Amino acid sequence: MKILRTVRELREALAEPRAAGAAVGMVPTMGALHEGHLSLVRAARAENAVVVLSIFVNPTQFTEAADLAAYPRTEETDAALAASAGVDIVFAPDAAEMYPAGYATTVSVRGPITETLEGAGRGSAHFDGVATVVSKLLLAALPDAAYFGRKDAQQLLVVQRMVADLGIPTRIVPCPTLRDADGLALSSRNARLSGEDRARALAIPRALEAVSAAVLSGETGVAALRARAGEVLIASDLEVEYLAFVDPDTLEEVATAERPVLCAIAARAGAVRLIDNVLLGRDPERREED
Ligand code: PAF
Repeated sequence: MKILRTVRELREALAEPRAAGAAVGMVPTMGALHEGHLSLVRAARAENAVVVLSIFVNPTQFTEAADLAAYPRTEETDAALAASAGVDIVFAPDAAEMYPAGYATTVSVRGPITETLEGAGRGSAHFDGVATVVSKLLLAALPDAAYFGRKDAQQLLVVQRMVADLGIPTRIVPCPTLRDADGLALSSRNARLSGEDRARALAIPRALEAVSAAVLSGETGVAALRARAGEVLIASDLEVEYLAFVDPDTLEEVATAERPVLCAIAARAGAVRLIDNVLLGRDPERREED
């Protein structure tokens, strides 16, 4: 496995396999790799001859300096995990490589898909940062496919929109959320949870399970579903930022779950902000083309 630091080195390394017709898959990450990332690598490995994993803690998508400072940086462990999962190339640029002196361009996806949920809470700069860095990573590697987790459902939509709008010739592959045995969605932030906060955080998957179960048993009114999830969240003492029921394609609020609905939650357990979601009324592991 190669570890490359510059776009030029990455392009040189990919030139030969690409000329030979090899498919290239990319998994963009900010490091602190966990089983969720490795599942993206496995999905990429299954479909491509060459797998590139990028590690870059992107400063432009953090809206709180403390969050950026606290973000775990574990490159050595990440490299070992990436190698064992079958990554061929780790692309780990520094900030000067991604945003050299004089850098002045932002990719900004407009509309409800960036203004609601995470966009409302963290400000539009967050998704500007994500869209900008993902477009730069995809343009650096020009992969045939790039793999993103459904846990960040809004990020996935933003990336799909951006790739379609800019005509970037990369297929975006959504991958299922991975969970620990207790139900908590895997996230690099989980490492920062104290035992007590982690126990509190379990109310998030429990609330999502409660609404899924209610929909399965025939409830379609969002007011009733909100009340059901609310009961679980209030009992937990979490600081809930949002509990939203939205159209999974537009992120606009809905009143009924007669069509598929994305139920999304953001909450703070202590100092750690967590997000999670479930797709109600449709197989959550559906493939994008379904
Ligand atoms: O999901 C992440 O880890 C990041 O937002 C991404 C897509 C790597 C962009 O920095």
